[in-house]
Amino acid sequence: MTDVGGAVRDGRLGDRVVREIVYDEDAIQDRVRALGEEISAAYGPEDRLLVLGLLKGSFLFMADLVRNLTLPLHVDFMVASSYGGGTVSSGEVRLLYGPTAELAGRAVLLVEDIVDSGTTLARLVPMLEGRGAASVDVCALLHKRLPTVGVEVRWVGFDAPNSFLVGYGLDHAEDFRHLPYIASL
Ligand code: IMP
Ligand code: MG
Repeated sequence: MTDVGGAVRDGRLGDRVVREIVYDEDAIQDRVRALGEEISAAYGPEDRLLVLGLLKGSFLFMADLVRNLTLPLHVDFMVASSYGGGTVSSGEVRLLYGPTAELAGRAVLLVEDIVDSGTTLARLVPMLEGRGAASVDVCALLHKRLPTVGVEVRWVGFDAPNSFLVGYGLDHAEDFRHLPYIASL
């Protein structure tokens, strides 16, 4: 068990123990600041930027990212879920909520926690384009770089190892989302 600055911060839950800190709080905050600078330089006020967070996984990343963006923007959220009757993943993605904002003519920045197979983004990006967004770009905190669905992710926080990660929004069965660091389980 890795010690996090002397405090385990709920890294242990029942028989599940956070194995290794992969990105600590400082590394995450440094990277989010750099992403904020890059993204701020890529858009202007005329883009009417809409930062669209994919819940729930992106909630902490989204909150930190927008605080590092230095142009006018609006914030909205959406909830999508893999659809497959509960047991078998059919690769279908169901939109459960949002976006409620008007997309027509706007630059949309879709904020995702982690790209794994890419299925979620492969379904959502065309859907958002279909609603008339002027552009749809993706910012993902983590990318597993698996040779899967060809989805273009314009901004990536970290190229992630191919292990199961939790914390900073990412969950295992809804646990661990609140950890300020990212760890492997
Ligand atoms: P994709 O559609 O296969 O790219 O899956 C992306 C979604 O799967 C993410 O938004 C997460 O909700 C979830 N996911 C994928 N890998 C992990 C992981 O290592 N930890 C936690 N959630 C993950
Ligand atoms: Mg997610």
